[in-house]
Amino acid sequence: MPITIRPETQQDHKIIYQLNKHAFERDNEAKLVNHLRESSAFIPDLSLVAEMENQIIGHILFVKILIKNSTQHFESLALAPMAVHHDFQKQGFGARLIQEGLNRATELGFKSVIVLGYEQFYIKFGFEPAQKWGIKAPFDVPSEAFMAIELVPNALENVNGMVQYPKEFELV
Ligand SMILES: CC(C)(COP(=O)(O)OP(=O)(O)OC[C@H]1O[C@@H](n2cnc3c(N)ncnc32)[C@H](O)[C@@H]1OP(=O)(O)O)[C@@H](O)C(=O)NCCC(=O)NCCS
Repeated sequence: MPITIRPETQQDHKIIYQLNKHAFERDNEAKLVNHLRESSAFIPDLSLVAEMENQIIGHILFVKILIKNSTQHFESLALAPMAVHHDFQKQGFGARLIQEGLNRATELGFKSVIVLGYEQFYIKFGFEPAQKWGIKAPFDVPSEAFMAIELVPNALENVNGMVQYPKEFELV
């Protein structure tokens, strides 16, 4: 069944809320998306929905973050959260959303993306452990689960430091 991946519109907000709540089986991530939408970290073109026959079955969000060390800071993106409706999981739609998101982020001029997640999933898209570049998470996390990808070759070559997420992430 073909899907369309497109940026969200205002009409989608409630459905995106329900989709996240259902996929995560709690409302923390659904609320997080609503709060991020109001924040300066939000990029409307990088809140993407996957639509099948006019039904939204998936959502992915990329937001602006900083990677900071004692003297410098670098702009990057965080991939979080993402959700695919239970009935449509394990059919490759999550992968499609990630790849489309990475392509659009590259077109918009972003240089890298950070993700916290299941290593074996994200490795397929080219993510590598962020520690390779000396990029650290601001919380305790298995090092292999905290990953980064360069959207532009060598974009992270001289980047290191700790990721600073938008304060809205304190909700989850
Ligand atoms: C994670 C999620 C978005 C994946 O969507 P999907 O459409 O099923 O993804 P795909 O069909 O493209 O890929 C399925 C893959 O999910 C992977 N996967 C991703 N996260 C996983 C996790 N936490 N546990 C187990 N498998 C996971 C598996 O590796 C599987 O890979 P395989 O095809 O090699 O078996 C979906 O399962 C979901 O909405 N889960 C609930 C919300 C969530 O945990 N979101 C991620 C954190 S932000």
